[in-house]
Amino acid sequence: MDNLGINLKYSGISNSEINAYADKVKKIHKELNKNVDNINNYTGWIDWPINYDTKEFEKIKKIAKKVRADSDVLVVIGIGGSYLGARAVIDALSNKFEKKSTEILYVGNNLNPTYINEIIDYISDKDVSINVISKSGKTTEPAIAFRIFRNLLENKYGVDEARKRIFVTTTRRKGALYRIAMQEKYVKLSIPENIGGRYSVLTAVGLLPIAVAGFNIDDIMAGAKSAAEAYNNDNLKYNDCYKYAVARNILYDNEKNIEILASYEPKLFYFSEWWKQLFGESEGKNHIGIFPASVTYTTDLHSLGQYVQEGRRNLFETVINIEHSGSDIVIGYDDENLDELNYIAGKKLSYVNKKAMEGTILAHVDGDVPNIIINADHLDEIVIGQLIYFFEKACAMSGMLFDINPFDQPGVEKYKTNMYDLLGKNK
Ligand code: PA5
Repeated sequence: MDNLGINLKYSGISNSEINAYADKVKKIHKELNKNVDNINNYTGWIDWPINYDTKEFEKIKKIAKKVRADSDVLVVIGIGGSYLGARAVIDALSNKFEKKSTEILYVGNNLNPTYINEIIDYISDKDVSINVISKSGKTTEPAIAFRIFRNLLENKYGVDEARKRIFVTTTRRKGALYRIAMQEKYVKLSIPENIGGRYSVLTAVGLLPIAVAGFNIDDIMAGAKSAAEAYNNDNLKYNDCYKYAVARNILYDNEKNIEILASYEPKLFYFSEWWKQLFGESEGKNHIGIFPASVTYTTDLHSLGQYVQEGRRNLFETVINIEHSGSDIVIGYDDENLDELNYIAGKKLSYVNKKAMEGTILAHVDGDVPNIIINADHLDEIVIGQLIYFFEKACAMSGMLFDINPFDQPGVEKYKTNMYDLLGKNK
């Protein structure tokens, strides 16, 4: 793939160790691609970038145009896979300090009243639309937030105008949210049954907020499509995405059970949050799995760097290296040189950042922290689409190499049962 590649030079893993997985990978690849349309397989995301619903896609663009024209703020209500993907893409592509024509705010991803009240205050003098996203249509956090914000909109605009500002993303025909949407005649977008929450960013789940934020969703899908084609190769030798999955499994077998996703790009903070959910919820089962953590360097070299360098040796790092920075600064020359920086005068800041990365990789590898490097040429819609697909496919392969089901999340139910008991639900 032109924009994306893996470098295992610093992983401590040999080619022959990787190649030993070739047959196993071939078998899993076949299994993964079998019956992608079957709703019980949850593998609909595999060829989604090639076969996505174009009618629904046009509807997303139309809604996004309306919201951008009539709203200062889009409140995205959702949790886990129902909001992290959109936030990951929007943050990765946005200039954080630029005034947006339509700002995206996220609620329904916690139960904290102060957080919600602060957002309510902030939007009080603004024009607002809502996109409530829940595949099951019954998750408590977004359900409560929707009740609050729907009420707010109805009080502000009246029931009829509020109805034109509420957009519901849910499954085709079930759940409380679906029933509300039908009764209130809200505009609906659907989440395919065979695509699970954390694999759904390239459906309406992620695409509507991303389009409202002003990004080109055609390019995101084009990037994902090129990745879907490139990584549909069952030959491990030519499939970087599967190599990444295999490398993780080899490192896990060597007692490296914590993976730290590192980048030198602060814009990728929420991309790492999305990645942590993808891998954590997919793999952490049957008392096995790699614990996914993340850092932004060089910031975290001054907080977690010490631990990574010399703490318990059960870590490995996966570095996302963005080869070309979106913009640059040349470090100036200073006659007095009191800060003693003239040795880098005339150099670009991106060059210094790169040297920090190279120095850190060498130091951590010396400290027995293997490094996998994922090289991405630059950050834009095409590359972000490719990165999303790369990690989704790698996650599925990796989970199946662990012999677990990477598409369910039975453990998430446990806290809900206790919370419902404590709140007196069903009494
Ligand atoms: O990946 C998943 O399936 C989960 O993280 C869900 O996205 C999350 O629990 C929210 O579920 P729902 O969209 O049904 O509200």
